[in-house]
Amino acid sequence: MTNKLKYFIGNWKMFGDFTSLKIIETIHFFLIKHKKYQKKNIFVMCIPSTLISFFSIKFKSKFINYGAQNCYHESRYGPYTGSVSASMFKNAGAKYIILGHSENRYEGETNVIIKKKVESALKENLTVIFCIGESLKQKKNGKTIAVLGKQIRDSITRKNNLKKLIIAYEPIWSIGTGKIPKSYELIKIFRFIKREFEVKFKKKSPPVLYGGSVNPDNIKMFSSISEIDGFLIGAASQSHKKFIDIIKNYYK
Ligand code: PGA
Repeated sequence: MTNKLKYFIGNWKMFGDFTSLKIIETIHFFLIKHKKYQKKNIFVMCIPSTLISFFSIKFKSKFINYGAQNCYHESRYGPYTGSVSASMFKNAGAKYIILGHSENRYEGETNVIIKKKVESALKENLTVIFCIGESLKQKKNGKTIAVLGKQIRDSITRKNNLKKLIIAYEPIWSIGTGKIPKSYELIKIFRFIKREFEVKFKKKSPPVLYGGSVNPDNIKMFSSISEIDGFLIGAASQSHKKFIDIIKNYYK
């Protein structure tokens, strides 16, 4: 285990109402009680648009930041029915934002659109959690590295402020399925992503997280892989018990 910062980021997806604030409060009080987890870890909960402003006003946690899950690619107000811009999320209290999630790519989001979203979110000084990942078919065809490289190159440029960027490697076949990659696959992929930034962008790599079926039972497996800087946690982040057990088991 290294001394680097570790990220535990929840992605609630389409889940939650006003009463779900209890989940965040419970995790917050757990962190107050267990000081050892406060240092060296960054905790974020990416919640639905409808809850960001309510949660931010109602409960400010020293330890848990709020994040959004997507935004519209234009930043100025305009005739975009149903859309919310990065600046509106910032205004509502978000500090982080997930972009390029495979569930949004599946709905038709392209690398070009994601690039615009990344730019608008970085302009607002939001920290971008940029998701990349291959499908099962691409994995079986040995295309993983090529797919990830293209996703990075098409949406991220050297001009972006990489200090406000986090990469989340989320194999599509692993999201919500209970299947996770093998250790040796993860090591190879994480090294590739980090090298991509160092070689192509000539900059220090942003932190790289793993996401896809992370739960309290499999988290320990990841702790021996020093290349992994943290986790993007979907379903398990909708339960304070599971989220807390993930933190505890990671450091066991
Ligand atoms: P999961 O989702 O943990 O439920 O697999 C991860 C994600 O989609 O970010």
